Amino acid sequence: MKKAFKNIIVTGGCGFIGSNFVHYLVNNHPEVEHITVLDKLTYAGNPANIAGLPKDKVELVVGDICDKDLVDKLVSQADAVVHYAAESHNDNSLLDPTPFIKTNIEGTFTLINACRKYDVRYHHISTDEVYGDLPLREDLPGHGDGKGEKFTPDSPYRPSSPYSSSKASSDLLVRAWVRSFGLRATISNCSNNYGPYQHIEKFIPRQITNILSGIRPKLYGSGKNVRDWIHTNDHSRAVWDILTKGKIGETYLIGADGEKNNKEVLEMILELMGQPKDAYDHVKDRPGHDLRYAIDATKLKTELGWEPEFTDFKEGLQHTIDWYTQHEDWWKDEKAAVEAKYAKNGQ
Ligand code: NAD
Ligand code: DAU
Repeated sequence: MKKAFKNIIVTGGCGFIGSNFVHYLVNNHPEVEHITVLDKLTYAGNPANIAGLPKDKVELVVGDICDKDLVDKLVSQADAVVHYAAESHNDNSLLDPTPFIKTNIEGTFTLINACRKYDVRYHHISTDEVYGDLPLREDLPGHGDGKGEKFTPDSPYRPSSPYSSSKASSDLLVRAWVRSFGLRATISNCSNNYGPYQHIEKFIPRQITNILSGIRPKLYGSGKNVRDWIHTNDHSRAVWDILTKGKIGETYLIGADGEKNNKEVLEMILELMGQPKDAYDHVKDRPGHDLRYAIDATKLKTELGWEPEFTDFKEGLQHTIDWYTQHEDWWKDEKAAVEAKYAKNGQ
């Protein structure tokens, strides 16, 4: 019989997607009795993201996923580990890959070794970026109505950046631990998330907080690059479905058919915030900039019955704009430093 997941470790639970998952668990799954958030509180981790949640249920342990003794102790008491902690920003990985190699590869290695030792269920959060990029639809014959235009679980690994290659490495470690050591693991590769609590270095919150701060938004290169947007709550629901109903050893792709190019997204933000459509600057492009991501989530939908709930991107974006507008205290102290770092890099 399947063991219930009463004690769950959420690594990176003070970051963007991890904290949204902790909120989702508290609000939707009373059967989860205890959530241990293991988070190093890097620049991207903010304890405020989980403040206000019941203290008897959500416990924050400030620590590093590379700390073998700490990880061993926590995992020995858990029923499952959901692993979100990572260095997550492509631009940072291009400036200094070192912490990406350490946290994303060695951290995953530390966690899966402990889960193997105590036979603890492990779910690995990964990204669609491990599959590299796809051609723009307008560059495909017949404007891309044919097959083979989206990532599937069988797409070859072809990562482009230090970030995505470190995530790809960690996925491969998990696959090997399943096959060689019987680790009870699943992997999910999700597309670009948006929603509350996302660090202001990322595209959507950077532009919203730029406008709120009287700074012109910044678009890399032509703005033709396409991302496949999904609301972070839909990601959380998918992860829960995979954790509880997914088949051990399987990879599930998570996406909500939300393809949009960056220029379109930026123009939508400007419109929703009452600004002229062209009130932004083109800045230096990202080296190796992936052209297009697109997820085929058929397996998740047909095997596990998942469907996205946030199907209206404009509405989700409006909620996100409202959240940043109402939570200036959450981001305003960091804004100048984030923009100074970008400016130094011509972005
Ligand atoms: P984030 O940068 O907002 O948060 C990362 C969290 O991990 C922070 O709280 C940070 O303090 C913590 N952390 C970093 N290094 C650590 C370490 N060594 N030990 C313990 N904690 C550490 O990231 P995010 O955007 O929420 O992404 C979370 C996960 O989801 C990552 O694995 C990322 O690859 C994956 N992912 C993100 C997206 C997206 O759109 N943001 C999409 C698909 C997958
Ligand atoms: O696809 C999933 C990935 O999505 C996750 O694995 C990553 O952790 C997450 O950061 C995200 O990666 P991206 O590189 O796609 O996200 P980012 O928000 O950095 O950029 C989104 C797009 O916007 C990308 O094409 C670069 C562009 N961009 C970004 C910034 C910060 C701009 O045009 N201007 C900007 O100021």
